[in-house]
Amino acid sequence: MSSLDDLKKHARELRERLEGQLASTPDSASLQALRDRFLGRKSGEVTALFKDLGKLASEDRKEAGEALNALKEFSEARISEAEAHFERRQRESRLSSERIDVSLPGRARASGSKHPLTLIREEVEDVFIGLGFDIFDGPEVDDDFHCFEALNMPADHPARDMQDTFYLEGQPPRLLRTHTSTGQIRSMLANENPPGVRVLCPGRTFRRDDDITHSPMFHQFEGLVVDRGITLGDLMGTLEAFIHAVFGKEYPVRFRPSYFPYTEPSVEVDMGCSACKGRKTGCRVCKQTGWLEILGSGMVHPAVFESVNARLGEVVYDPAEVSGFAFGSGMERIAMIKYGISDIRLFYESDIRFLEQFS
Ligand code: DAH
Repeated sequence: MSSLDDLKKHARELRERLEGQLASTPDSASLQALRDRFLGRKSGEVTALFKDLGKLASEDRKEAGEALNALKEFSEARISEAEAHFERRQRESRLSSERIDVSLPGRARASGSKHPLTLIREEVEDVFIGLGFDIFDGPEVDDDFHCFEALNMPADHPARDMQDTFYLEGQPPRLLRTHTSTGQIRSMLANENPPGVRVLCPGRTFRRDDDITHSPMFHQFEGLVVDRGITLGDLMGTLEAFIHAVFGKEYPVRFRPSYFPYTEPSVEVDMGCSACKGRKTGCRVCKQTGWLEILGSGMVHPAVFESVNARLGEVVYDPAEVSGFAFGSGMERIAMIKYGISDIRLFYESDIRFLEQFS
């Protein structure tokens, strides 16, 4: 039979051992093992002592029980304390290792910039939107009717020679549009509120051309204004306002008679040379003239209205009632003049050193 003294002694030993082992427990995993060794339900040493209670004389049991309960509470308290300590330590180490130094400068992201032709397109669009125009989009693959026929250039018309393009195989015959003038026909045909039209048609165009100022793919914008009472004065005022908005009011604007099959009269629009500022003797850029050609334009030819009426099957644009003006120009040309670029191929080479200059 065990004695009360033996049991108390054993309890004291256990308490000291626990203290000793707690002091050398390095982390929470070994702390868990230690708890199992002392307080585990099945084979914990403190738990085991309780089983000895029954072996004591009955008068000793109360005191022994109190001593064992005290040991158990003490063990639990010390172990929880150690556990809290490990948790605190882990938290602190995470806080310091995961700290973000907000005083460091951020990583700069390389950001792209708009292509010069995009800048020009947006600028041109903004000017005309400001003048009350709508942007009208048409297909790049079009047909003979919209590109030539309806623009008063029948099959044998010599003006077609200047706009040789790429034809697609198949029926009906299709081609890559040679100019955005197709937008004149398409916008009149699609017009929901005839006869008034005020559109700008920017877009890609294609021709069998390739040199320092011509590319087989390039960009144009076409404008068309149709209504009752539109005059050459409207054309001149609108195009002068456009040139002044894009290049500056200091440039003189000049209107010259010209010829296009789809306008009558036809007008070519020049501005004072931006390279030599319109010096009398001129320079290389303006071929010694002091002027740069910016736009082709003119009053819509009655034959154009008639082609559209024929396609619509009714007289929607009666040349006796309505008139209009049209104009067209190249984005590349505007960009080359505005930014002083001498080789058109730079636009398509995707050379970052070139493109960066426009950011
Ligand atoms: N389509 C012509 C070209 O590509 C430009 C042009 C000239 C457009 C006169 C017009 C115009 O609307 O009236 O060269």
